[in-house]
Amino acid sequence: MDTPEELATTLKQHGQEHLLAHARALPDEARARFLAQIAQVDWEELQHPAAPTPPAEVTPSRVLSLDERAARAPSLTEVGEAAYQAGQVAVLMVAGGQGTRLGTVAPKGCYPLMPLSHKTIYQVQAEKVWSLSRRLGRPLPFLVMTSPATDAETRSFFAAHGHFDLPEVRFFCQGTVPSLDERGRALLARPGELLTNPDGHGGCFTALVRSGELARLAAEGIRHIVYLQVDNILAPADDPFLVGLCEAERADLITKVLEKAHPDEKVGHLLRVGGRDRIIEYTELTPEDVRRPGPDGAPLYRWGSPAMHCFSVDFLVRLARRGYKLPLHRSRKPLHAYLDDGEVREVQGYKSERFIFDLVPEAERHLGLAIRREEEFAPIKNATGADSPATAVALASDLYARWLRAAGVRVSLPEGAHIEISPRYAATEAQFLARFPGNLYIEETGT
Ligand code: UTP
Repeated sequence: MDTPEELATTLKQHGQEHLLAHARALPDEARARFLAQIAQVDWEELQHPAAPTPPAEVTPSRVLSLDERAARAPSLTEVGEAAYQAGQVAVLMVAGGQGTRLGTVAPKGCYPLMPLSHKTIYQVQAEKVWSLSRRLGRPLPFLVMTSPATDAETRSFFAAHGHFDLPEVRFFCQGTVPSLDERGRALLARPGELLTNPDGHGGCFTALVRSGELARLAAEGIRHIVYLQVDNILAPADDPFLVGLCEAERADLITKVLEKAHPDEKVGHLLRVGGRDRIIEYTELTPEDVRRPGPDGAPLYRWGSPAMHCFSVDFLVRLARRGYKLPLHRSRKPLHAYLDDGEVREVQGYKSERFIFDLVPEAERHLGLAIRREEEFAPIKNATGADSPATAVALASDLYARWLRAAGVRVSLPEGAHIEISPRYAATEAQFLARFPGNLYIEETGT
């Protein structure tokens, strides 16, 4: 713990001396609390956000294509299934975001999404894990990362719903970082309290370590973590092929990728830079960059990341042992800050966040895995328009229609009608086909 003099020197070095002036004006107890909050912050890293990638050094990454996937499916699915059966797989869902674009006050997961059952996003995600546990005949660790903004409500929401029949849900809370004004100076939320924001989905690495959950997983013999984000309603928890690939390739990390819908799609891109794979955010790229051809003639920036991974626990433990921390990235955002005139107002400033995909260049062995967008990706970001609840529900309904057709059902739906299949009945096509009697004809009723 820094002495008051050391803390003052650190703040001055990083252009934060206004915080000292503010501290001096506070009553004793509030000052002590404020200084303790300030002392927790790594001011050095906050002032040195990650540098953008020079696009000139970029080459394609190794990606297992859909064809290669089909060829290796039987053997790798078997390997992955054995890992699930042996209790070596955990599912981790990050749910700490502020959901600003969706515009809800409650955590995103509490959003009542499904058109017929009105199930919330949390319920759909939890039921996937329930369904997987039932299939395996044993529970598997389900970790849910919250943030200080979503923690209490998420825990009480799960408790109020009997944890959706899961024997155990392991909640752990991510950290925060100070939000900065346009000059890089820390802002206040109210007198005696820094304005902070959750430290991004990448905060999950540090939070796993700090909470002891990573050590616990390792002690339990968990070898692989299937990582998904709460706001992708189709992200699979039950994915033996993914786990099998991670196992067979002895990969530290697998990143699922999908063929971009168009060059300007706003996704992270999987590429190789300086001998390491990494994800380059669209914000770092120009319209010319994303149109560059690769050595094989295919677009260099071809593979987009839908934020689904498989982590080897061993890899995360190795990073933790060397005290690794994911870098911070700054982005310009409107913020509600307490200002010198004693009012809370919206100002332009910066949030700093860690991105989970920055683990990719840390991996000695990394591989991209091509997936079909329509099978696994239905993000919920905005209240209306693209990537909204309406598009996610439509994508889920289309997928369920395909499952039904694969089971021999003739499906024809009137405009605007939706199909919903409960994950408790089947959370994957394979499970659906194993359970569904088939040979039914669902008639269009117009309702
Ligand atoms: P987004 O980056 O889309 O952010 O999160 P968001 O907070 O949900 O939405 P906006 O940007 O405020 O509108 C992608 C995933 O990462 C999680 C979210 O819960 C979501 O599952 N996330 C994001 C965290 O867990 N913590 C964070 O600090 C940020």
